[in-house]
Amino acid sequence: MAAAHPQQALIDAARAVRHHAHAPYSRFAVGAAVLDEQGRIHAGCNVENAAYPQGWCAETSALSAMVAAGGKRVMAVAVVAVVAGVEGAAQSPVTPCGGCRQKLREFAADDVAVICADEADVRATFTLGQLLPASFGPEHLQNT
Ligand code: THU
Repeated sequence: MAAAHPQQALIDAARAVRHHAHAPYSRFAVGAAVLDEQGRIHAGCNVENAAYPQGWCAETSALSAMVAAGGKRVMAVAVVAVVAGVEGAAQSPVTPCGGCRQKLREFAADDVAVICADEADVRATFTLGQLLPASFGPEHLQNT
């Protein structure tokens, strides 16, 4: 049997919550999970809205769950979606959108792993610093 991914529980949580996504408009269900500094996992899915711009992403839901539970720092992230693409063409992993990268940045260091998976496999792993280089964060406001 293949060795489980070190963050398997995080990936499993993102896969499970993805089935609760409210995505009737895009039909693109996403699940996300974050590991907090206490070792707890918080999961969330995308929640779309008939007024399209009012919907939000799975990563945002997961962060909200963490903050509501008293979590302070993100130590790892998993994002799960079905990777689209025609056969033979490059199938890019689904990564957090730009806005969610910034939201994650509020609570995560540059070296935090962002694991991008589908139902079957881990498709890619990045650090948050790779996804959002030279970023703006809370420390920039420290002297204001
Ligand atoms: N979406 C996420 O929830 N997370 C991502 O990383 C990419 C996009 C959602 C937003 C929208 O509900 C749907 O996927 C299509 O963009």
